[in-house]
Amino acid sequence: MTLLKVNSLKKYFSVQKGFMTNPLTLKAVDGIDFSLDDDKIFALVGESGCGKSTVARLILRLIHPTSGEILFRGQNIFDLNGDSLKAFRKSVQIIFQDPFASLNPRRNIYDTISEPLKIHRIIEKQNMKNKVVELLSEVGLGPDIMNRYPHELSGGQRQRICIARALAVSPKVIVADEPLSALDVSIQAQILNLLQELKKEYKLSFLFISHDLKVVHYFSDDIGVMYLGKIVEYAKTDDLFVKPLHPYTELLLSSAPKIRLGNEKTSLHAKRYTLSADKLEVPSPINIPPGCPFHPRCPKKFEPCDKVVPELKETNGRLVTCHLY
Ligand SMILES: Nc1ncnc2c1ncn2[C@@H]1O[C@H](COP(=O)(O)OP(=O)(O)O)[C@@H](O)[C@H]1O
Ligand code: SF4
Ligand SMILES: [Mg+2]
Repeated sequence: MTLLKVNSLKKYFSVQKGFMTNPLTLKAVDGIDFSLDDDKIFALVGESGCGKSTVARLILRLIHPTSGEILFRGQNIFDLNGDSLKAFRKSVQIIFQDPFASLNPRRNIYDTISEPLKIHRIIEKQNMKNKVVELLSEVGLGPDIMNRYPHELSGGQRQRICIARALAVSPKVIVADEPLSALDVSIQAQILNLLQELKKEYKLSFLFISHDLKVVHYFSDDIGVMYLGKIVEYAKTDDLFVKPLHPYTELLLSSAPKIRLGNEKTSLHAKRYTLSADKLEVPSPINIPPGCPFHPRCPKKFEPCDKVVPELKETNGRLVTCHLY
């Protein structure tokens, strides 16, 4: 069953560059579509600034879109109010990149985790402590941590607290916005394993946002590769790693040299693409290049690329936005 469906979603920001000038339009999200099914992981991948967190904030209903819609179980989330909005807020939770910034420094861990339980009236007061202990144990932490404060914990422990807080309301979907980026490499694998275990146990779906293809390879069912506010390639995760179609996907793969792809054939393929285009700067979403937005960096550009915008096309069951296909 489809839980979340995103249709032609756009979010433009108006930005003022100087006192005397007219505001400019920044196209952070520029018409994207995807869906997330029950018990699945959809990964959104792309370099910093391509619009990933804006998509996350739209899905959480923290901001409103310029146009387009987001359906949760068939209902437009921007039409929800009262009880239906409350139910939606419970069903979709977020884990942020920086666990320290998303925890209140003046609240101890017990208060942090019991807050959503109180707001959503999930548990009787007398059972609250047991529930908090249970949630802490689910994320691999002992009860002794309850009276501590965020600054007394390690980065990994803090992210575990954020995960426990998200789990407290028994969500269906977790939006994980670069949940590993602020953590030491040694801790990243532990948190990823934890998310994988919790996904199985709670039958969760994830919108997993990352700039790191290594992470996404092991964690996702489907991938959308995002560039300057648009998804330029959609694929099943395995298909994408065996054969990236869009030159930007090739670039992302080639700049992630440590991915161990599991078999000889795919790892050779990844090595074959050594593009130099990653040295060029990402264009600004205020001034998106004409034609294919990737053309200034694309080593495969040809005649129509700087003039004609490529449409999203289906080719062998894959979706890609590139004149080569
Ligand atoms: N509130 C805002 N006002 C103006 N510009 C914004 C705002 N939020 C995000 N942006 C811009 O939108 C673009 C996409 O940002 P973001 O979604 O955070 O990208 P990512 O998460 O992929 O790094 C960036 O250029 C960012 O500066
Ligand atoms: S459309 Fe042209 S410039 Fe754009 S990715 Fe394809 S080949 Fe490169
Ligand atoms: Mg971001």
